[in-house]
Amino acid sequence: MDSLRAADLMEGFQREFKSFATDAIHVGQEPEQWNSMAVVPPISLSTTFKQFGPGNHAGFEYSRSGNPTRNCLEKAVAALDGAKYCLALASGLAATMTVTHLLKVGDGIVCMNDVYGGTNRYFSKVASEFGLEVSLADCTQHDVLKAALKPNTKLLWIETPTNPTMKVVDIEACSKIAHEYNKDILVVVDNTFMSAYFQRPLALGADICMYSATKYMNGHSDVVMGLLSLNQDHLYERLKFLQNALGAVPSPFDCYLCNRGLKTLHLRMKQHFSNAMAVAQFLEADPRVEKVIFPGLPSHPQHELMKKQCTGCPGMVTFYIKGNLEHAIIFLRQLKMFVLAESLGGYESLAEHPGMMTHTSVPENERALLGISDTLIRLSVGLEDEKDIIEDLDQALSKTHPQMK
Ligand SMILES: Cc1ncc(COP(=O)(O)O)c(C=O)c1O
Repeated sequence: MDSLRAADLMEGFQREFKSFATDAIHVGQEPEQWNSMAVVPPISLSTTFKQFGPGNHAGFEYSRSGNPTRNCLEKAVAALDGAKYCLALASGLAATMTVTHLLKVGDGIVCMNDVYGGTNRYFSKVASEFGLEVSLADCTQHDVLKAALKPNTKLLWIETPTNPTMKVVDIEACSKIAHEYNKDILVVVDNTFMSAYFQRPLALGADICMYSATKYMNGHSDVVMGLLSLNQDHLYERLKFLQNALGAVPSPFDCYLCNRGLKTLHLRMKQHFSNAMAVAQFLEADPRVEKVIFPGLPSHPQHELMKKQCTGCPGMVTFYIKGNLEHAIIFLRQLKMFVLAESLGGYESLAEHPGMMTHTSVPENERALLGISDTLIRLSVGLEDEKDIIEDLDQALSKTHPQMK
């Protein structure tokens, strides 16, 4: 992508966060922290660390409670989120679980009704079994959110844009509503779809910014990891305690890989945006497609909100193919370069059917309400050449609807 195209695309969105690339490359990576002066952080595999005397150590005791490679990653992510602290966990869901352990029996969770299927499953089938009261609310409707908040509400969980129907939630407005109702409600934003490059929830009033780093933050589809960024000291102390006490920590090797992935996050995200915009425009103009949902398109109902709270859009494009389930299946099977697979945010283009793949854990009636229908297809547009991406979609559409176009 030439820099002119990048500048054009990002026109009207929030300005790029200051020194983002420099921070991604340097924060937490100082060679001086190692005796060897290594420029690239070493993978510190030791599970235990020598002490000078009992309880007198150089900052590390046991690798679950603290690890040098994990430290480098956590410092870099905190800088990218404009945060004071970051904690790395074993997966996105491990991060969700660790946050949920801040609550106690009888506390309430209000969760955006359109979230990653596994988040929905964890809250409604696991957390609720432990005495937490879980309710789902469409947080794009502020009256609905207000009505959902109860005296026992301790956690508001938002995801934006939502997975897979790309509804955009106003983080600033929802944080304000929750904090005005009760300043102690923790507002958590799942920032997985956006990455730190396109959205900073903490600057918009959220208390915790959460990621499945498995996606864009690592960006290479070879690590499963979760991240939590935050500013409040007491909250950090408690989450740091839980990181160790629950023990859902990532391996040093995965921390090394994710830390390495961050070095190109800004470049990758710009290219994802450019390729996704080309795909969205191509699909929107195509008669074999019913409807395209991409928040970067002016046709998206919350395009203005997206521009107000983000610096750009990621590579996630959702669309309804014309026809029925059979057409959706033919299309997905005919793709040659796009890989038919779950997950998202890697350099490679992926396609999937939320109704039959990622969102089967969402009850059928909820799926219908959310618009997760038989013809809904989700694309994670990768970093391949734009022309090849479009050609692949075009040929698969031709095989799906041979008599059209
Ligand atoms: C938006 C979102 N949040 C959370 C998760 C869960 O993360 P993980 O698979 O790393 O546990 C996912 C996984 O697909 C996701 O897409």
